[in-house]
Amino acid sequence: MAPTPVITHPHVHELLKELHARSLAQEANLPSPMPPRCTPEFDRIMSDKFVALDQDKCEFVYQLARAIGAKTVVEAGTSFGVSTIYLALAVAQNTSGLYTPGKVIATEYEPGKASKALEHWSRAGEDIRSVIDLRVGDLLETLTNDLGIVDLLLLDIWAPLALPTLKLVQPNMRRGAVIIVDNTLDSYLGYGDLFEYVDSLGSGFQRVTLPYSKGLDFIVYEPRM
Ligand SMILES: C[S@@+](CC[C@H](N)C(=O)[O-])C[C@H]1O[C@@H](n2cnc3c(N)ncnc32)[C@H](O)[C@@H]1O
Repeated sequence: MAPTPVITHPHVHELLKELHARSLAQEANLPSPMPPRCTPEFDRIMSDKFVALDQDKCEFVYQLARAIGAKTVVEAGTSFGVSTIYLALAVAQNTSGLYTPGKVIATEYEPGKASKALEHWSRAGEDIRSVIDLRVGDLLETLTNDLGIVDLLLLDIWAPLALPTLKLVQPNMRRGAVIIVDNTLDSYLGYGDLFEYVDSLGSGFQRVTLPYSKGLDFIVYEPRM
């Protein structure tokens, strides 16, 4: 197995290890079966859960953000801010020494989760915290302005919100922007409308499913000129 590709301080590696472990421990104790997504009961159960993106997926997203030189990233679904740390590291490294700083636009509608995320980013350090623009509230409202030119969109959100979020961000995506969608094999039916939109002829999107646990889709936006 390759060593982690993530370049950061030892205390950030320790923090990430701790947060991933806490997330996995919570997931092991989730009720089964879970109520359908976007219902009040589902929201109540998830209101204090990390549901962090798996560590190998986070490392992949970090590598990807570094490879495409992402300067502006939108994260749909921030929770306690675990994947955000990886995105912020990549953006900070991509924009180091540049006049215009990069940004990760993070979105979370549970205020309690948003304040925990802020705590975690403070523990990670100012270089990470300073590139994160946290927007608390419903992302369908908080993502309507000031996005800039988006290089990367991470859709780590309940499946019914994925397509509306993509449609909101799409006008700001640069040619060659990448969209990452989590749990695409596990929630294949839930993502039906997203896949129909992305896979339709002339959409400008090309999609591939990567063989991560429960699936991770990699979509490139190359609209016709
Ligand atoms: C899968 S979790 C995100 C995990 C995070 N990316 C990580 O790796 O740490 C999805 C999050 O989206 C949040 N969420 C759900 N609906 C939302 C909405 N309409 N606007 C903003 N956030 C929302 C949930 O509260 C939940 O914390």
